[in-house]
Amino acid sequence: MNFTRSDFPDGFLFGTATSSYQIEGHKFGGAGPTHWDSFAATPGNVVRAEDGALACDHYHRYEEDLDLIAAAGFDCYRFSTSWARVLPEGRGAPNAQGLDFYDRLTDAMLARGLKPCVTLYHWELPQALADLGGWRNPDIANWFADFTEVIMGRIGDRMYSAAPINEPWCVGWLSHFLGAHAPGLRDIRATARAMHHVMLSHGRATQVMRGLGMSNLGCVFNMEWATPVDETPRAHAAAEVYDAYYNRFFLEGVFKGRYPKLVLEAFEPHLPKNWQDDFSTIQEPLDWVGLNYYTRKIIAPNDGPWPHHHEVPGPLPKTFMDWEIYPQGLYDFLVRTAREYTGDLPILITENGMSNADILKNGAVHDPERIDYLNQHFEQARRAISDGVPLQGYFVWSLLDNYEWALGYEKRFGLIHVDFETLERTPKSSYQALTSALKD
Ligand code: FCB
Repeated sequence: MNFTRSDFPDGFLFGTATSSYQIEGHKFGGAGPTHWDSFAATPGNVVRAEDGALACDHYHRYEEDLDLIAAAGFDCYRFSTSWARVLPEGRGAPNAQGLDFYDRLTDAMLARGLKPCVTLYHWELPQALADLGGWRNPDIANWFADFTEVIMGRIGDRMYSAAPINEPWCVGWLSHFLGAHAPGLRDIRATARAMHHVMLSHGRATQVMRGLGMSNLGCVFNMEWATPVDETPRAHAAAEVYDAYYNRFFLEGVFKGRYPKLVLEAFEPHLPKNWQDDFSTIQEPLDWVGLNYYTRKIIAPNDGPWPHHHEVPGPLPKTFMDWEIYPQGLYDFLVRTAREYTGDLPILITENGMSNADILKNGAVHDPERIDYLNQHFEQARRAISDGVPLQGYFVWSLLDNYEWALGYEKRFGLIHVDFETLERTPKSSYQALTSALKD
C-alpha cells in the first residue's frame, strides 16, 4: 500500500466487513428460511440461482476467519446478525443455537483483541415476515425492535459499536423499486413504504439499544455520486433527483427530520398515514454515521415516468462489477455529509472495496488492481481528514470472497480468496499489502 497506519491519526480504526447471509452458511444451526432463499430459488433473479445455504461455511470456520483478521492487524470487525438464525419465524421463540453462535463469535473476537462492530440487519428477512408484507408492513418496526431486544440482550454488552440496518437504499429502493434484490418488487408504493419503515425501524432499534445500556450507536448508509451526463439544466436536475432518493433521503430523515422535496413529489401519496409523526423516533440521536462507498453513476434525463432518468455507462476504468472507479466521490461525500448533515459527529467508512477477476494460481492470488483501488480511496480518506472531516475509521469490504447477492459467487470482493468447492481460504496480495501497512 502507499500508506501505513502512522499516516492516519492516532486511534484511527482499520477494519474489515462481512455480512451473515453472505458468509455463514444459512443451512446450518437451525436458521429459518429467508426471503433471499425464495428469491434465489426463482429463475432469473440470481446468477445460476445460487443462494447462501453453504456460502463460506463461516458458521463452522469462524475461528480460522477471525485469526486471519487479527493476523492482518485490523482493529475491528464489522459483522452482521441474521434475524432468521436468531428468530427462525421472525418473531416468537428464539433459536438457542443461533444465539449461542453469535455469543461464541463475539467472545472469539474479544479473545483476539478485535472490536466487535455489529450490524443487526443485512438483508436476509425471515420468510415468515416477508409473507406478512415484510418492509411494507408498518408492524415491522415492532418486530425489528423485538429482534433487537433478543439479540442485543445476549451480545449487546460486548459490542464496540452497533448499527441497525445496512444500506436502507438497498433494502428500500433496490429491492422494491428496481426489483433487483429480494423481495424483487417493482412498485413505487411498496418502495415509499419500505423506505419509511426502514427509517422507523432504525429509530426503534436505536431506542431499544439505548434502553439496554449500549453506546456507540450509528447507521450505515450507502452512497453513489450522481454525475449529470452533460451540462444541460435537465441533466443536472435528473442527477439531483437520483442524489435525493439515493443519498439524501436517509441522511435527511435521520439528521433533519424530513424527506427531500424531490422525492416527496412522487412518494407523498404512497407514504403511510401520519408518516411525519415518526420523525421523533427516526431522529433518535446517534454517535456516528457510516458511509458505504463504491462508485458513481452517470445520469441522463428522459421522458419516462418519474424519476425521469436512466443511467448511462461512464468513461472511467471499471471494476469486475462494471462499476466506474471514482475515488473523488468518496472525498466529496465525506465533506458534504459533515458539512450539510452531521457536523462534528464521527464518520466511518463502513464499506469500500472492489470486485476483481481474481485467479488462484500456484497457491496465490495477485490482485494489484485491488491494491490500487484501495490506495486511491484511502488517499481520499486522508485528504478528507486533513480538510477537517471527523473521519475515524475505514472498513474494507470484504474479508472473504462471498455470496454477492443477485450476482452469486462469481464477483469476488475478498481480501482472502475462497475456493467455493473446498472452502479453502487463501489470502490475496491485497491482504498481505494491508498487513504490512497496518504494522505499527
Ligand atoms: C454493498 C453491500 C454488501 C456487498 C457490497 C459489494 O452494497 O452492503 O453486502 O454486496 O455492496
